[in-house]
Amino acid sequence: MKKVLALLMAVVMMFSLVACGGGETGGETADVTTYKVGVAIYQYNDNFMTLYRNEIADYFKTLETDTVKYDVTFVDGKNSMDEQSNQIDTFITQGMDVIICNLVQTSSAEVIIDKVVAADIPLVLINREPLGDNGDESYAGILDNPTVCYVGADARQSGTYQGEIVLSLEDKGDINGDGTVKYIMIMGDVENPDAQYRTEFSVKALTDAGVKVECLYQDTAAWDQTKGQELVANALTQFGKDIEVVFCNNDGMALGAAQALKDAGRVVGEDVYLLGVDALTECVEMVGNGEMTGTVLNDHIGQSHAAVDVAVKALNGEAMDNYYWVNYVKVDKAYVDAQ
Ligand code: GAL
Repeated sequence: MKKVLALLMAVVMMFSLVACGGGETGGETADVTTYKVGVAIYQYNDNFMTLYRNEIADYFKTLETDTVKYDVTFVDGKNSMDEQSNQIDTFITQGMDVIICNLVQTSSAEVIIDKVVAADIPLVLINREPLGDNGDESYAGILDNPTVCYVGADARQSGTYQGEIVLSLEDKGDINGDGTVKYIMIMGDVENPDAQYRTEFSVKALTDAGVKVECLYQDTAAWDQTKGQELVANALTQFGKDIEVVFCNNDGMALGAAQALKDAGRVVGEDVYLLGVDALTECVEMVGNGEMTGTVLNDHIGQSHAAVDVAVKALNGEAMDNYYWVNYVKVDKAYVDAQ
């Protein structure tokens, strides 16, 4: 019995020695660094940003090791800039080591940047690009601050791809052959650069190719499926068969548009064309079976990984660039068939 006790004591001593060897303060957690990450999303009720947000969470988990952990807190701005501003204040009080922010309003970028920079916390802006005074992407608030960056995709490219998909059709969108492509435009949000650029560049691709266009109807549906459906139903009541192309700034609204078109007895690919952006799984399937003419992959995986990678760089004290760009991909029937 004595022998067993002695053996037990020896084992216990051995373990405590190993544990104490871990670091100055002792205990097995001494060598584990846990970084606090705050992620502010403009609103959870958004198809694309939900995919993006979930991928941020999953990707942070894959980067954890035995010695490095990420304690990631997500907050829902509920599409209110006041709410988001308070959430950023709370992140600062909580001593976040890095903040990732999907602004509710890009016009409030400066206020958010100023307070996060003053608190000495690196800031990674995502998805909604603050634009400079002259409307280009070189926003001084980002360029002037080495600890602030923007990770996103160039929305001009997505608009151009929508237009190019229409140009690749046999009739180039002119279904009734009257020499003019008559379209309606369902915008996300007038203040949002993704919405502005997609609206401008989808049509520009057509006019640059010498195609005559006429906008019958344009309104904003806040990236939302139900609102998108309502607007397209309105437009159909007003313009009926004259509508040849329905451009939607995102797939959420295109799903609503698809329903409104169906309800009005219109058939995509026969008497109307329908375009979105994001490449939601549902919409890619619809492009494959002809219920949508095309969409554009908004690469939430590439963007979320780039955002997390740069946040980790900042946590490691490495310098970051001011801008990180991820490409869009054109998704038409040929692309889907080839997958
Ligand atoms: C866009 C995306 C939309 C919406 C929006 C939010 O890039 O295409 O579906 O998520 O961001 O800002």
